[in-house]
Order: sequence, then C-alpha cells, then structure tokens
Amino acid sequence: SERSFVMIKPDGVSRQLVGKIVSRFEERGYKLVAIKSLTPSPALAKEHYIDLASRPFYGGLVKYITSGTPVVAMVWEGKDIIRQGRRIVGATNPLESDPGSVRGQYAVSVGRNLIHASDSFESATKEIDLWFSEAELSSYEPTAWGWVMADN
Ligand code: GTP
Ligand code: MG
Repeated sequence: SERSFVMIKPDGVSRQLVGKIVSRFEERGYKLVAIKSLTPSPALAKEHYIDLASRPFYGGLVKYITSGTPVVAMVWEGKDIIRQGRRIVGATNPLESDPGSVRGQYAVSVGRNLIHASDSFESATKEIDLWFSEAELSSYEPTAWGWVMADN
C-alpha cells in the first residue's frame, strides 16, 4: 500500500499538538513507518519547498520551518494515505479548511498552518527520500491491519 510524508511544523510542536495530530492518523488505522523530530537545515527546507521557490512567501516559509523549534517528520502508510492525508490536514488556507481537519480545527493563518502532507505520489516519493534514509523506514504489521485495510 502507499506511503505519504507528513510533517508537523514548528507551530504544531510549540503549541504541543503533536499527540493530538499523530492520534488522528493512528486512530484512522494508518501505519506509522517512521517518525523523528529535528530542526531542518535551510538547505533541507528549501529543497522540500523547491516548487514554491518563485513565490513571494518562499523566504518566510523557509524561515518558519527552520525557526529552531523542531518539526516532527513522519511517514504514514495505508490505503489511499496520500489523498486521505490531505483530507486529514485540510485546505492550505485555514479559512477554507474543513472544520474537522487539523488546520480547520487548530489553525487560522495560511502562514502558520501546522502541518504538511504530500500532495501526490511523486511528491511523496521525493519527500520520503529527502527526509529519511532507507534504514529509518520500518516494516511491520499493526495488529488490526487486515481489518482496517481490507477492501473486499
Ligand atoms: P504543505 O502541505 O505545507 O505543502 O501545504 P499545501 O500543500 O497545503 O500548500 P502549498 O504546497 O501550496 O504551500 C506550502 C506552504 O506554504 C503552505 O502550507 C503555507 O504554509 C505556505 N503558503 C502557501 N501559500 C501561502 C501564502 O499565500 N502566504 C503565506 N504566507 N504562506 C503560504
Ligand atoms: Mg504542498
């Protein structure tokens, strides 16, 4: 099944929302494949958001992600996790985020929207490779995996 890269941004860590955010993915039934907290280097943050390099907010975005307060980088796995991860996270601008989403429940500013999730298979592949080494990615089966992921 597919994998997605999800990152709790520094505001999520500072606001002590890590447990609540992780719980949403766990309780949905997704598998935690990797997790670590780190303060990203400017090079890492710039590469992660390289597609936005020409946007006026790019500098501020890199500064926010590299503020010195850590991020929590994760890989989640399971049925449709890339699209479902985006739904759990909610729309980029909290004004448009579903109230049941992480951003819709906890964020009010597009520049402090708490969490990132990969937006496509290509992004997920690129981001997992950028943030994690192969040795950091675990292979195991959660106890309820068969029940949660069955599609027949
Ligand atoms: P990510 O999951 O973080 O990639 O967000 P996204 O996919 O919902 O949006 P996008 O990739 O287009 O933008 C990446 C991040 O840049 C957003 O999550 C915001 O933190 C920031 N961003 C996007 N648009 C704006 C904007 O208009 N103003 C500001 N200040 N920040 C923005
Ligand atoms: Mg994005």
